[in-house]
Formats: sequence, structure tokens, C-alpha cells
Amino acid sequence: MREYENLQKTSENRMRARSYYIPSGVSKYTLLNGQWDFAYFSRDIDVPEKIEKWDCIPVPSCWQLYGYENPNYTNINYPYPVDIPYVPDDNPCGVYKRTFDIEKKWGRLYFVLEGVSSCAYLYINNSYVGFTQGSHLQAEFDITDYVNEGNNTVVVKVLKWCCGSYLESQDFFRFNGIFRDVYILQRPENHLRDIEIFPNDKQIHIKVDQPSNVQIFREEQLLVSEKVDIEFFYTVENPISWNAEKPFLYTIVFERDGEIITLKTGLRKIEISEKYELLINGTSVKLFGVNHHDTHKYNGWCQTDEELYQDLKLMKELNINCIRTSHYPPTPKFIQMCDEMGFYVICETDIETHGILRRYPNVEYKFDVESTDWPGSNLEWEKEHIERMERMVECFKNHTSIIMWSTGNESGHGCNHEKMIHWTKQRDNTRLVHCEDASRKGDNRNTDVHSRMYLSLEQLEECVTDEDLKLPVFLCEYSHAMGNGPGDVCDYSKLFDRYPKAIGGCVWEWADHVIVKDGVQKYGGDFEGELTNDGNFCCDGMVFADRSLKAGSYEVKAAYQPMRTTYEVGKLCVYNRFDFTNLNEYVFSYWIEADGIKQNEKKVVLSVEPHTWETIDVEYEPLDCGLGVYLCAELVKDNIVYAKTQHKLPCNRIEKYEIKSVELTEDKLNVYATGDGFSYVFSKHYGMFSSIVIDDEEQLACVPKLSAFRAPTDNDVHMKSLWANCNVWQGENLDCAFSKVYDCHIENGHIVVQGALAGVSRLPFFKYTLTVCIGEDGTIKSSVNGMVREDTTWLPRLGYEFELPDSASKFQYYGRGPLENYADMSHWANVSMYDSSTDKEYVNYVRPQEHGNHTDVKLLRIGRLEFISENGMEINVSNYSTNALYKAEHTDELRKDGNVHLRVDYKVSGIGSNSCGPALADEYRLAEKEIVFSFMMRPQK
Ligand code: GAL
Ligand code: MG
Repeated sequence: MREYENLQKTSENRMRARSYYIPSGVSKYTLLNGQWDFAYFSRDIDVPEKIEKWDCIPVPSCWQLYGYENPNYTNINYPYPVDIPYVPDDNPCGVYKRTFDIEKKWGRLYFVLEGVSSCAYLYINNSYVGFTQGSHLQAEFDITDYVNEGNNTVVVKVLKWCCGSYLESQDFFRFNGIFRDVYILQRPENHLRDIEIFPNDKQIHIKVDQPSNVQIFREEQLLVSEKVDIEFFYTVENPISWNAEKPFLYTIVFERDGEIITLKTGLRKIEISEKYELLINGTSVKLFGVNHHDTHKYNGWCQTDEELYQDLKLMKELNINCIRTSHYPPTPKFIQMCDEMGFYVICETDIETHGILRRYPNVEYKFDVESTDWPGSNLEWEKEHIERMERMVECFKNHTSIIMWSTGNESGHGCNHEKMIHWTKQRDNTRLVHCEDASRKGDNRNTDVHSRMYLSLEQLEECVTDEDLKLPVFLCEYSHAMGNGPGDVCDYSKLFDRYPKAIGGCVWEWADHVIVKDGVQKYGGDFEGELTNDGNFCCDGMVFADRSLKAGSYEVKAAYQPMRTTYEVGKLCVYNRFDFTNLNEYVFSYWIEADGIKQNEKKVVLSVEPHTWETIDVEYEPLDCGLGVYLCAELVKDNIVYAKTQHKLPCNRIEKYEIKSVELTEDKLNVYATGDGFSYVFSKHYGMFSSIVIDDEEQLACVPKLSAFRAPTDNDVHMKSLWANCNVWQGENLDCAFSKVYDCHIENGHIVVQGALAGVSRLPFFKYTLTVCIGEDGTIKSSVNGMVREDTTWLPRLGYEFELPDSASKFQYYGRGPLENYADMSHWANVSMYDSSTDKEYVNYVRPQEHGNHTDVKLLRIGRLEFISENGMEINVSNYSTNALYKAEHTDELRKDGNVHLRVDYKVSGIGSNSCGPALADEYRLAEKEIVFSFMMRPQK
């Protein structure tokens, strides 16, 4: 056994974990980030000082992103055999070297590594100092005896793997190197080492391990100054509490021998109510959360403080109030920002052993924790488990934002987890303990919340109404945001609102993990040398890798928005969903929009206490309109819209669409219709128009077709299973459909077509009659009336695909926009009149897929044509054909073909989050068997 495979020796000379702080005053903090010498070896080398050839590398960084090995994304699988605790003999090794100066030698010197994967050996001036593993946990070494005054050399040898790697089977790119800050602290002898600050809603409890002077400030105002030997209870007069909406922090300054340590704390008490609500200072709070991984499109696991801050700022704008640090502790600075900006944090330790599941082929997919193959159930692993929990809790214990400690992710639930929980509870009884593995196993004895992932809406409802379950229910992961999506998040948040016991959840996950190479976003399988990979399953962020937003981001924003409204005859009722904020801190505006034209906008400051309603009288007499009238409302602060709602109002529709038929002529192949400024040819062969000429201009680039396929989204993944049964689209071969015309003739002055659609090798899935009436003014009314085969699956969509010439690339529509939207993903998309273009409609999903749909469309003006649907249709305008989107695996494989691809659909199925979550809910599926769809098309005036 090599020493880094020894489970009982996960460190050497590493100091006991302590609370995080950076001391100042006489103490000195020297950040060693920057260029280091670097030497890479394909296997472990023994003596770092003998290296002759050095490259250089920035610290922090991941060495795979600097040409040493390629990135490798794997989700569950370990990228080496599961032969616990052993790792491959050829264990790549990176040696880092640099010098640093110690101006004057005094006091004690410490070397701190905030993150290094997977383990590190530290040498100062050629002497071995110590060893650490646990990639995302701080490691501190006392280097006083190794350091000289003046110039010193530090060498850190990092191995790619160690036994601890078995605990780090998280779903991410597997990177290595020194990926977080490295620094030296110089401090007085006998300095304070550990500090403990445990507040509640009015009292601050402080413990120190060396007598110190302690001062507590409210902003600039000194509240108390005290010499503390061991502990100090301070009761705050007129306490200002901390919560995610109003994160007020008191400053606490510790002084000893000229060293100053400044920390902050917020007054907050975490409790569970009798109804199993989560109470923060006595108020029931819902967790509108997201899972955050550290990820950067060029730098992998390395995000700068500024980038982390930008993530949090964007989360605030998206109404997120909770973060689970999936699946390891973040850099302490991230948590500091959470304290200051206001988030409820579930801090998770660096443990996931998901890959154990794959150790034998063909075993049932389950966490069979009884087996001692699982580190969590094997006593040899006890030390390493408790140690990882302890290192996290000790480091982060003073951070107000943390409301729950998590034992890790997807590791089964064995004796070692129970011990971790017991240790945590005896150490800190002010916070809750979270352990999804225990909850999944049905073991609710030790955890404070029943935490689950990817429950369907029905399962969640079952859980929260189960009277035997005496815990709050928390979805640590839900609404898998992969690709186009998530579509279901609003339905979950309605359940959070409805049931006190449903305390909320965290969307999976914050941002796409990709590595951009040659300008293209790459994922698993895109790099040479990957022995196992999980494709694009890492591209599942609710924001893109560059943090730009997609429709799914706004859908989450809408689900989490702080206001709800209802409207009933003249009364607009406004509900304040905040927990601690009166709506009068925002500007509330509302207006009426008739045919997309705004009128009567009013901006008011509404005083509405949290969790209460207010009613506004809205004077409204039904207006005359062509398309529709809506009442719109918004909640705005600093030019950011935090909430928006829209209600349909009654109106008098003025336009009557009556058609006086034009005379039709026909020959063997076609039916012809000609009138003032138009001439149409309807092909009897295709049962469809083959030419629409308006003012001598051909509008069609080719013959339109009826179709049902869409380029599967990532959330449609289970509908494109290779196992061809007819419950999936691929089973029906919808991607390879044939259109059959049985008959086409003129009847009572109309064109009537009998036809069918069928996938290759399959029975027809749709049989229909199409009736086309053409008016004297060129208006075409097209009505399809058909039956979907009884035993087939629900359809991705059903409607017409047109190809128009490139001149039609700009268009105008009245419907939901401006973002793409779908049956279940339209809560941030208001009905209005929008101008758009094919370029604007394009959404840059990492793996190209269906996008750009608009629901509730009444009018579309494109090219010289106007499409009208009184009952609403769905439209989609794109530079790309369905097939092009379907075939491409990366965005650079997409080519424009020069035509405008227009879909005019009866319906398009919703989005859901089935890439990892439950199947798309029935109500969002196009599952009807009898379909009647009509729309009009006419020359634009
Ligand atoms: C969960 C897991 C996450 C992630 C997700 C799929 O089961 O906890 O880490 O893998 O699935 O994206
Ligand atoms: Mg996993």
C-alpha cells in the first residue's frame, strides 16, 4: 500500500480545523497566488527537489486546463477501477514550486491551502512539512520551524488521486491541482486560534481559546467592549435580526497581542414549527434555492471572488434566496458573501461515493448501503468521514448564512454517516442537519429535514401530506435545468406555497459546466483520452456557462417571485410573498394592454406586509380590440423587475373573419386560385400549397408539411430512447415521418384532403381531413380535423412546417414573448405584440435542440403573409430546420440553409425536467386523440 492509499492517514502535521478568518493588525497575510514553477509527471515521483526542468502555471488553476492531460467529465463513474482504497499505480503528479520572503522572523508562520485536488505534500526549503487530502477543505500547516528570515522555497507535490478520491465522485469535470487560494499567515506566539460565535435572535454567544479583547459593533457604533477569557454572552438591546432579505450583520473585533480578527455575525434563530415549517426568527420561510458548483468555462473549478460575487448578485436578481453548496464546501469567501448579501445556505461537505454503484455490471441501481463496499458503511472509512464533516463545520461555524449542514451527496447512508450526524449535532445544535441519503432510505431518526431529490409533484404532495412524517420536506434537488428548461418549477413552487411542511428546494443546478475550446463549448466525450464520460449531462445549469440567461432562468425567477396577483371583476389582489419585506420598498406598477398597446399605467407604492394581501380597484369597461386585452402588473426596484403578472380581461373582438370563396380551377395535378394581387397553387399530390405568390413574389421556399417531431430537448431524452417501443417518439420514428395523401378533391368550393402521417416502419400515427377555403381577398382558411392512433404516445407537437425565403427573417407576432415559451414554461412571458427575427429567436443551447417556441399566438406577420388564429396557435421561427437541430451535437455543427423555418402549430408539448426529474406532467403533453386545428393565412396589407 502506498501512503496516500492509507485510510487511517489522511493527513500528516495538518493542523486541527479552526474557524475561518484572515487576521490583521500586527499579523501578516501573504497571498501566494500567481505564477508558480510547475513540473508534471505521468506518475508519482519521489524527490521533488531533483527536478531539473520546470514549466510554469498559474495558481490557483486546474492543470488539465493548461495542457497537462485533457479535461474529463464523468458523472457517476470513477475514472479508474473501483478497487478500494487503491488508485492506479501510474498516478499523475504535479509539482509546484515558488519562493517567498519573510522580512523578519517572529511569531508563528502558517501555510494555508484552501483547495487542492486530490492530495498534497508540502515541503519548505527542501524539508517535508506535511500531507493533506480532502480537495475542497482548507488545510493549514505550522511552518515556523521550516522558514528562514529572507528568501524561502515552497514545493507542493500534488497527486491526481488518493484514497480520498473515492469520496469525491461528484458529478463534474474531474480536475486536479491547487485550485483555490494559497497563503501564509504570520502571527504572534500564543495567538487566538479558534473562535466560536453562535448567535440566536437576540444574543451572541462567543467562545475564544485564548483570552482576548472583544468589541461588538452595530455598524460604526460600539455596543460593548469586554475582556473575554473563555466565553461571553452578549444580549443585544433592540436587536436587528438577520435574514436573507435583510441581512444585517454585527461586527465583532477580537484583539490579542496586537493581532486583530474581525468577524461578522447576524442575529437569527432557526427552528421547526409544530406544523413542520422552517422558522427563521419565528417567521415561516420558504427556500427558493439553487445548487451551486464552482464552474468556469475556461478555468474549470476556479472562480475568482468577483465571479462568485457576480453569481450571487445574479441569483438575487432571479429571486433566489437559498444555496446548497453542491457537493462540497465552497471557498470561505463565498459564504462570507452569502452572509452579507443574504442567502440561506445548506453547506455540504466534500463527500460523494456515487461511483460505488457501478462497481459490478448489471446491479440494480440502488444504494445498497448494507454492503461494506460502501465507504459510508465500512468502519475503516469512519475517520475520513468524520474528519471531512468536522473540517467543514469548524471552518464555517461562524457564518450566519448557513442554516443546515449536509453530510454530502449520494453516498448511501451507513454507520459512518450516522456518526457524522451525531458528531455535528453535539458540536452545533443551532443549525439543522441535512442528509438526503438518510431520507431516501426512509431513515428519519437523525436528520432535521426530510430531504429528497427529483420527486414528482404527486410524490411531493404525498410526502407533505403524510402525517407520519414529522419533519419539514425539502427538495435538495429538483427541476433539472438541463438544456431547454426547466419547465416544471412553477408547479413546485405552488406546492411550496400551499403546504406549510413543504419548505422549498434547490433547482439543479446553477450554471452549465463546459470547457470552451476553439470557441466551442465542450463537454464529456469531446476530449481525447477520456476512458469514461457522461456526455453533456454537465450542461444542466439554469444559466449558461457564461452566466447569460435563458427562458428557464426566467421561469425560475417567476416561480420564486415575491408577488402573486389575482384579478376578479375590477379587483386586482396583490399578495406579498416576501417573508420580511413590505412591498412598499418596491414600486408596484400596473396597466392595461389592448392589442399590445400599453395604456393607463399607474405606479404606486403599496404597503403590503409580508404574507398578506392588498386589493386595488381597477376601473375597466370591456374595450374593443382585435386581439386581446390584458391587465399587467410589475414589482420593480432599481430598474430590475422582480415580479410580473398578467391577467386576461374581457373585450369585444371587432374583427370578423368571414370568407367569400374565390373560384377554384383545377387540372390533374393542382388546384389554382387567383385574385387581386395573389395567385396560389395547391398540389393535389402533396395535399398542400406548392406556391403562394403575392404581388408577383413567391412566399414559399418549398412545399409546407404537416409534422409532429421536434428536435428533442435534453429534457426529452427519455422520449428518444433507442428501445423502439411506441411510447417514445423514436419508437414511432417520428423523426422519419412520411406524409400520405389518400385523396384530394374540390368539394363545395373548398379543397378537401384525406391524408395520414406515419413513421418509417410504423402504422400511421395521425389520420386527418384537411379543408382549405380560399377567399376572394386571398385569405386562406385551413382546418385540419384528425385522429391520433389510440395506442401511440403523446406527441412532441403537431402542426405545419413552412420554409420561407430568407427575406422573411424579420417578423412580428402577438402572443407570448419575447423569450421562447412552452405550455409549462411561460410564466415570465407576457402576451403582447413583439418584433423579432430568426437571429433573435436562436438560443445557444450547448447541445443544439428544440427552442424558440411561442404560445398563445393570435397573429403572426412574416414575409408578405399574415397568420391568424382566433383560438391561438403556437409559432416557431428559426434559421435551422428541425433535422439540423436534431443532428448537431455542438453549436459549431449548425449551418444556416438560407431559408426561414416557420412552424405554425396546433400545440407543442411542454418542457418539464425529465432529463433527471419526473416525466412531463400529463397536462403539458399533447396527448389528445382528436385534433381540430384551424388558422388563417392572408396577404399582408
Ligand atoms: C443528482 C446528483 C447531482 C447531479 C444530478 C444530475 O442525482 O445529486 O450531483 O448529478 O443528479 O445532473
Ligand atoms: Mg452523483
